[in-house]
Amino acid sequence: MDDLRIKYIDLIAGAADEGALEDLRVQAVGKKGEVSLKMRELGKMTPEERQVAGPALNALKDEINSALAAKKAALADAALDERLRTEWLDVTLPARDRRQGTIHPVSQVTEEVTTIFADMGFSVAEGPQIESDWYNFDALNIPAEHPTRTEMDTFYMHRAEGDNRPPHVLRTHTSPVQIRSMEAQGAPIRVIAPGRVYRADYDQTHTPMFHQIEGLAIDKDLSMANLKWCLEEFCRAYFEVDKVELRFRASHFPFTEPSAEVDLRCSWKGGTLKVGEGDDWMEILGSGMVHPKVLQAGGIDPADWQGFAFGMGIDRIAMLKYGMPDLRAFFDSDLRWLRHYGFAALDAPNLPAGLSR
Ligand code: PHE
Repeated sequence: MDDLRIKYIDLIAGAADEGALEDLRVQAVGKKGEVSLKMRELGKMTPEERQVAGPALNALKDEINSALAAKKAALADAALDERLRTEWLDVTLPARDRRQGTIHPVSQVTEEVTTIFADMGFSVAEGPQIESDWYNFDALNIPAEHPTRTEMDTFYMHRAEGDNRPPHVLRTHTSPVQIRSMEAQGAPIRVIAPGRVYRADYDQTHTPMFHQIEGLAIDKDLSMANLKWCLEEFCRAYFEVDKVELRFRASHFPFTEPSAEVDLRCSWKGGTLKVGEGDDWMEILGSGMVHPKVLQAGGIDPADWQGFAFGMGIDRIAMLKYGMPDLRAFFDSDLRWLRHYGFAALDAPNLPAGLSR
């Protein structure tokens, strides 16, 4: 038995790989292995002999088994070490710009805007692009006969024959996400909702699909003053200037009361836009205090809560900041345009480093 022990402990220690180890296992403690054959001989022994040899054989079997297990673990460790040695990667190396593809200005500006509002505590909300007419219109205090429904040049979805329910629409603005957010989270709320919207319109500054970003804040004591501060902060950060001046022009939206369109002081000297100075005013968004009926439609009690909302064209503010003259080119997928106006993939906007470098 000692011979067997010495032989196998030695062989196991020297096994080169898992295959060799398995062969040794079969040879020693497999069904027809040397130790197993010895165990069969127990039957031929006297009870006294058996009392000595039995436990000794069992102990030998256990010893060989644990030597096998230990060697197996050591081999696996060694294999992993070897792999780690050959597959190392220096993660501190700067990434190489492969110059394949660019980030579209709409994506870049969406990131910029969400980054700025995230800093003010707004989280991102989303809603479907195919929307029921209730979310797109009724819940926003736009009843069936309201002129806005036609003014917005709505695209209506096809209705199955015999289906008399109002047809779904391609959402004409991101405002339905106001209602969806109210339903989903109740008050208080601070969300922005970027996304695609659709209107039947096509010229230098209009495409049938474009992008808006909606803002909604609801709390106990919000006023137009909070709205104004948020928008000023936003413009300062977005246009990357120290001084901005906004003009709130009384306007009308069915879902806000009072409503204001917001203009930004700027100058257009020599075809370049300067924000914060000059004698020109440029409209950048629509806004107002959320109408009580809209709060009600979203399941929020207007006796307890109030809020402001705004809606801004992402493509439009992208054109202003980065100087693209024609909106239609945004969606032509022309590689020359994308290479010229696109952003490097690694230039993720963030406030400390500056939005656009
Ligand atoms: N939904 C409006 C539009 O598309 C913009 C808006 C949003 C106005 C929120 C006021 C409040 O023109």
